[in-house]
Amino acid sequence: MLPRARSNILEAIGRTPLVKLQRLARHVAADVYVKCEYMNPGGSMKDRMTLHMVTQAEARGDLEPGGTIVEATSGNTGSGLAMIAAVRGYHCVFVMPDKMSQEKIASLRAWGARVVVCPTAVEPEDPRSYYSVAKRIAAQTPNCFYTNQYHNQDNPGGHYRSTGPEIWEDTGGEIDVFVAGMGTGGTMAGVGRFLKEHKPSVKLVGVDPVGSLYYDYVKSARLTKPFTYKVEGIGEDFLPSTFDPKLLDDIVRVDDKECFLTARDLVRLEGLYAGGSSGAAVAGALKYAQETGKKENIVVLLPDSASKYLSKVFNDEWLRENGFLEGRPGLGVVADLLGRQKRVLITADAADRDRRPDELLGCDRDRGGYAEQLRERDALRRRDRRRPRLGAHPWARSDRGRRLLRRARRVRDLAGSVDRLVDPGGSLVGLHEPRRRLLRVRSRRRAARCCRTATIRSCRRGVARRTVRVGARREGDPRDVRRLRPPRASALPGRLLERARTAGGRRGTARPLARF
Ligand SMILES: Cc1ncc(COP(=O)(O)O)c(C=O)c1O
Repeated sequence: MLPRARSNILEAIGRTPLVKLQRLARHVAADVYVKCEYMNPGGSMKDRMTLHMVTQAEARGDLEPGGTIVEATSGNTGSGLAMIAAVRGYHCVFVMPDKMSQEKIASLRAWGARVVVCPTAVEPEDPRSYYSVAKRIAAQTPNCFYTNQYHNQDNPGGHYRSTGPEIWEDTGGEIDVFVAGMGTGGTMAGVGRFLKEHKPSVKLVGVDPVGSLYYDYVKSARLTKPFTYKVEGIGEDFLPSTFDPKLLDDIVRVDDKECFLTARDLVRLEGLYAGGSSGAAVAGALKYAQETGKKENIVVLLPDSASKYLSKVFNDEWLRENGFLEGRPGLGVVADLLGRQKRVLITADAADRDRRPDELLGCDRDRGGYAEQLRERDALRRRDRRRPRLGAHPWARSDRGRRLLRRARRVRDLAGSVDRLVDPGGSLVGLHEPRRRLLRVRSRRRAARCCRTATIRSCRRGVARRTVRVGARREGDPRDVRRLRPPRASALPGRLLERARTAGGRRGTARPLARF
């Protein structure tokens, strides 16, 4: 055995880092630290208590070699148990409510477990509830151990022996407040008990989602009617015996939206790859810190990883569908600038230099716009041939004549050189990226390069400017147009380009052109 190797993965449970929040907690006087339990090998803090529950069951003789572990789980207890079962040679059956993410279900199956999914929106006593189904399976399975995390005191016991001492050590005893979400309540009970025993002044603050009954129970000893919510792992619709309300000094309520948006901020602003209930715990801790306004050390437990919620919390569509991401992000997406016209997408690349731009731009489908220009251009050319000093003709001094001459020059300029429409080195702005990105591009003192194309790369400033203006007027947001510089005087293929709404990529790459 190599000196620093572990004999199996279970020995890697624990020793998770304690990290100070740098950006999310700037507005509070307290120093907020997070305990990164999502870095455990099974992906959550449940690794600690499942190991303790299984070890104790083995010691008592409740779990025999080759036996089956059954549990009602929101996913993380399942992962911990499945990991232990893989190492120690047990079978597993897990019963989950149907609101849990597909990632969690898939990962339990990946560990080799059997997963039974039950409806979330039924009473706990209902025979279809995941608690009832788990009990039934346990009763019918020979050589089976029902871990029963809601009523097994080895659940808080695991945290008392492992998580609590670690936080105490990490903080050197200088912890003032411990904040955690509560599902079974085992984490709070175990860690809380340990901390209070070592420092009675430590405050324990539970975090509860709107819809769960803990909040009202702690605040006013009332059992209110629970209702469903989306955040996973925390809150309850009954009182498990692992939950110890007497330990709590305070409880903070958070809603789904706060949980999810804070979880996203944790990942994006702090680099902490944590899930929805971590967002809940941090949102609750920040509310508490704001309310007290004290300079103290707050430790928040981050239970599990963002990887378990990629299809939900970290999926804009899911968030929007469920009303947690209002409207479109920021000013909307770049595609909003495109309006609702039907688009025809024609692609071209650098090798298309010899293709007629009218062919590339699909003028045959144009209703009087670009096709008409081309007819005028051809007419001008014919006239040009006959009359070389066209500009000297009185007709050329009329408004219409000057306009047509200008256009003719541009069209000639454009012929066969799609490549020249492209401003190399421009910023890439994707169709479905937030419109805010255009502002960011501009704030880096580069032209906002966006136009009405399906795939947007760089294009000349004039087009960007016009397009942004269109969008801004429609959206009524003046920020879009402020400080935009006028287009460069250099030859923009003006209306032709504007009408065709062309754009392209860097030289030599495939680039799309679109027409509306
Ligand atoms: C993601 C997540 N967060 C928080 C909790 C709450 O932990 P506890 O059951 O120890 O109260 C759970 C419990 O399942 C969970 O899965």
